[in-house]
Amino acid sequence: MKRKLIIIISAFMAIFTASADEGMWLPSLISQRIADMQEKGFRLSAEDIYSVNQASLKDAVVLFGRGCTGELISPEGLLLTNHHCGYGQIQKHSSVEHDYLKDGFWAMSRAEELPNPGLSVSFLERMEDVTDIILKGYEPGMSEDQRVEIVRNNSNALIDEVTKEGKGLRATVEALYYGNQYFLFLYRQYEDVRLVGAPPSSIGKFGGDTDNWMWPRHTGDFSMFRIYADKDNNPAPYSEDNVPYRPKKYFRISTKGVQEGDFTFIYGFPGSTKEYIHSEGVRYIEEIGDPHKINLRTLRLDIMNKYQAQSQKVRIQYSSKNANVSNAWKKWQGEVKGIKKMKTVQTKQEFEKAFDRWAQGGEFAGVTDKIAGIYKELEPYQFATDYYSETVRTVEIANFAMSIARLFVQEDSTMTFDSAKAAALAEAFYKDWYLPIDKESFVAVMNEYDKNVPADFKPEYYKEKLASYGSIDAWAENIFTNSIFTDQSKVVALTAEDKDMVTADPATEFFNEFLKWYYADILPVTTRLNQELQLAYRDYMRGQMVYCRTQRIPKAFYPDANLTLRVAYGHIKGYSPADGVYYTPSSTIKGIMEKDNPDIFDYNIPQRLRDIYATKDYGRWADASGEVPVCFIATNHTTGGNSGSPVINADGDLIGLNFDRVWEGTMSDIVFDPEICRNIALDVRYVLFTIDKIGEADYLFEEMTFTE
Ligand code: ARG
Ligand code: ASP
Repeated sequence: MKRKLIIIISAFMAIFTASADEGMWLPSLISQRIADMQEKGFRLSAEDIYSVNQASLKDAVVLFGRGCTGELISPEGLLLTNHHCGYGQIQKHSSVEHDYLKDGFWAMSRAEELPNPGLSVSFLERMEDVTDIILKGYEPGMSEDQRVEIVRNNSNALIDEVTKEGKGLRATVEALYYGNQYFLFLYRQYEDVRLVGAPPSSIGKFGGDTDNWMWPRHTGDFSMFRIYADKDNNPAPYSEDNVPYRPKKYFRISTKGVQEGDFTFIYGFPGSTKEYIHSEGVRYIEEIGDPHKINLRTLRLDIMNKYQAQSQKVRIQYSSKNANVSNAWKKWQGEVKGIKKMKTVQTKQEFEKAFDRWAQGGEFAGVTDKIAGIYKELEPYQFATDYYSETVRTVEIANFAMSIARLFVQEDSTMTFDSAKAAALAEAFYKDWYLPIDKESFVAVMNEYDKNVPADFKPEYYKEKLASYGSIDAWAENIFTNSIFTDQSKVVALTAEDKDMVTADPATEFFNEFLKWYYADILPVTTRLNQELQLAYRDYMRGQMVYCRTQRIPKAFYPDANLTLRVAYGHIKGYSPADGVYYTPSSTIKGIMEKDNPDIFDYNIPQRLRDIYATKDYGRWADASGEVPVCFIATNHTTGGNSGSPVINADGDLIGLNFDRVWEGTMSDIVFDPEICRNIALDVRYVLFTIDKIGEADYLFEEMTFTE
């Protein structure tokens, strides 16, 4: 099976090398794309990008935390990522006395760098096609359950073997192309990662959620960390004795500047895409899933925004929550627009029709119908799942109640309760909780739930409660008046004897009853159907490849993103989002001043930046026009997880930091349009300008290597 696929894949490379900039390529197979990359301007070799024999660019890229990318920029472990990727760490170190979110943070020496327990970074040691090993023992005709079992056992054995040296090694086996291929990824994970610097949020998050997903953009979205290791350069838990990690490779920084048309290469960890899904999968997203989720979030955001505007305290309490809710909300809107504009459902239906005609009587006959059938069965369950997660699961007090309820543990005949843990959870929860927001949101989303979810997909518990209260309003009144979880002092006073009271509390009960229903009535069905879908997609994926190859349809295949290291390449380019509108590809500090407004939180810049602008005190960071460059856009294919990824020029030097995409192009997780899809990057010269002129931490430049 593996050989068959490889033949298919390589045949592709040969026939269609030069396609548009779509694609997230596997670094170990980049030799198949290198000719195209070089034709488009890249001056290095495949070995320079990925090698297991010598230091290569991959050794300067890390998976940062749970879902971002970072890159090494000095021989002493200095690392660059986004401000929004380091946001949690910056917030944790912040207090009223030291508000690093507001004022920024700059370590003026190694001793001032701040440790971050729980944060880790991972370097990819190597990746490898292990399909034969993983499928060893599998025979065609075996059941899917048997296959799953074989894959799991073989994967575990392989992971044990390759990580036995210890020393921070960690491995995963990932299915590519819906399990047509398996790859091993071996990482070395470092746990002592310290905060070195972050600009004030008025720079690092400039434009906030107003500008999020938008171009033109002026956000200085970066933060800096340093990786520490033991004296043998191996991973070690935080210790004062640790020393800066010495990377095999780090990026040189190009201060030469960038221009439209320049080659760009993004090396990072894109999280998830669905480029090969069936038209029915897209239709659900476009017509049902996204619109309903958008509506539910609009209701919650309106409530948050209203209260945040009324109080400084509430604004801070809900800033991070608001950003999280708003981020996907805004992306989904762009996605729906993009899918519609691209007529993706229709295009896919036409493709499927032609595919079916070709597949008649052969190995792939009937597979598209099968997929459509599974989607049909799945739809009401998916809908119920979407509603459950965007309504019930978003009630803050209910989530919190459940987390406290879980602290009661039956040990033999005695009940125990971890009251220290409860106090800590309570501390964190009440610091950022505002009852009126939670209550109004409950009413808003549960009313939508009531209206839109069919009766068959509502738990009995829900129907009974609603009948007894008479309305969602009355139900909310009960929870938010009678629950003990409205009161921190009551939570802190809980003991092991209170288990029954906590279980019966209206907030706990609400969460728990829905949870039980979800596990009993919904999850088993969605799990089964998704497994069936996976299986059908495995054939359809292979079928699409064979079909396109034999029918000479120019389509470049790359595995969907799955938070593994990928290469995306393209070039700096403007775009036209609508008739009569054209966006140029770079922005400057001038645009920051145009947006500057002390009365609008998102646009209120530090006074220092105003002063610098007034005197044009830019140091060495101005471009030819005399302004400091801030952001640029390019045609690289990226997604969530690519945040913080290095943007690399034709010589392999760092020119920027990826952090977003343009709104009109957010459908690129499903369908990529080279005319519209653009990634947004921070120009590295704005990073350097900010370190120098705002942070006055230019001592950090001594360890960096600049190329002019
Ligand atoms: N849209 C970017 C990404 O998906 C940045 C998100 C963080 N920024 C924000 N204003 N919420 O993650
Ligand atoms: N902002 C995203 C991230 O955090 C990147 C994207 O979706 O384009 O990874």
